[in-house]
Amino acid sequence: MEKDYYKYQAQTSPYPLGMQVSRASGSYIYDTNGQAHLDFVAGVSACSLGHCHPKVVKAITHQAKQYMHVMVYGEYIQAPAVAYSKYLASLLPKTLEVTYLVNSGTEAIEGALKLARRFTGRSEILAAKNAYHGNTMGSLSLMGLEERKASFRPLIPDVGYIQFNSEEDLKYITTKTAAVILETIQGGAGFIEPNNNYLEKVRKKCTAVGALLILDEIQPGFGRTGKLFAFEHYNCVPDILVMGKGMASGLPVGAFTASQEIMATLMNPKMGHITTFGGNPVIAAAALATLKEITESQLMAQSLEKEILFKSLLVHPLIKEIRGKGLMLALLMKNDQIANELVLKAKAEGLILFWLLFENRAVRITPPLTISEREIKEGCTKILKILDALNGQTVN
Ligand SMILES: Cc1ncc(COP(=O)(O)O)c(C=O)c1O
Repeated sequence: MEKDYYKYQAQTSPYPLGMQVSRASGSYIYDTNGQAHLDFVAGVSACSLGHCHPKVVKAITHQAKQYMHVMVYGEYIQAPAVAYSKYLASLLPKTLEVTYLVNSGTEAIEGALKLARRFTGRSEILAAKNAYHGNTMGSLSLMGLEERKASFRPLIPDVGYIQFNSEEDLKYITTKTAAVILETIQGGAGFIEPNNNYLEKVRKKCTAVGALLILDEIQPGFGRTGKLFAFEHYNCVPDILVMGKGMASGLPVGAFTASQEIMATLMNPKMGHITTFGGNPVIAAAALATLKEITESQLMAQSLEKEILFKSLLVHPLIKEIRGKGLMLALLMKNDQIANELVLKAKAEGLILFWLLFENRAVRITPPLTISEREIKEGCTKILKILDALNGQTVN
């Protein structure tokens, strides 16, 4: 199997973690040798309710027996997608009422960009330096890091960059700007939170010049930061909200939500965005079960208590800082080498950790929201043991 994996599946990394998976349940993934791996990553923030949550499995199984794919997006009335969009609207501010369900985070970003250009009639998009919004041509064009996109040029034109949290850079938002797109909490850049009412100020400037504000909640969304969406912490409502990852507890999905007025522009000219599988009933059923569980349980509130527990346990001279909110946490290590060693040694100890895209000193901790206190303690004990051993060596 391992040989076939390297031979037949396209590889994009020289050093994949390469765990051979047998099954997964709750906070654990089991490999084909029978070893349990405690999951502090949740498929990179996707498995909000852990692995194979019974309510999600039940919703998928039930829907799969009724009907699966029956038509492309937007033609037939399919109960799971309608119920999902309606329930989501009931949880969001009034101006975020209409949802377009798609297949991934990056497609949701593409949809949001198209919508912003279509609605404003302008072309300029401003993104943040060090942003990550996905890997298709449009979202790749927004990426702040030149080395990751240079070989794919030419990308989409009229994209500019501002520094996240810089008030000074708000001057670049003008009447030429179709949209400013920001991650509510920057992910790949190192789990950087907005400070000094930054998002409120961006919101004000966008409103003043008639630009739309797009917030990418693909990582912090769905309860991970203690609120359903992170923008709720910062007194700022976007014009377009982009979602993905944790939305359906591990099934491929994305969505963008806006007002009736903005979304209506996708009908003129007609078919402003087309997808075959967007709104797929099985995936929408999984998303609805996930959203209900998150909103009807104590999981959101508990994610803030779990943050406190992580922060109280993970005190070590090699950890310089813990960034992020709720269960979107990143350990900032003394240097890249320690971060790398920690991830690799944790793997050998049966604990799953992961890197961040652009901040090499960081180690990601984004477990399922359902992780228990005992599991947090178990994983943190392993981290501290590894760091003690590394501290005993000469790691500068
Ligand atoms: C903030 C953010 N935006 C967009 C994406 C792209 O989502 P997907 O990988 O589902 O296309 C990601 C994925 O990591 C992300 O973290």
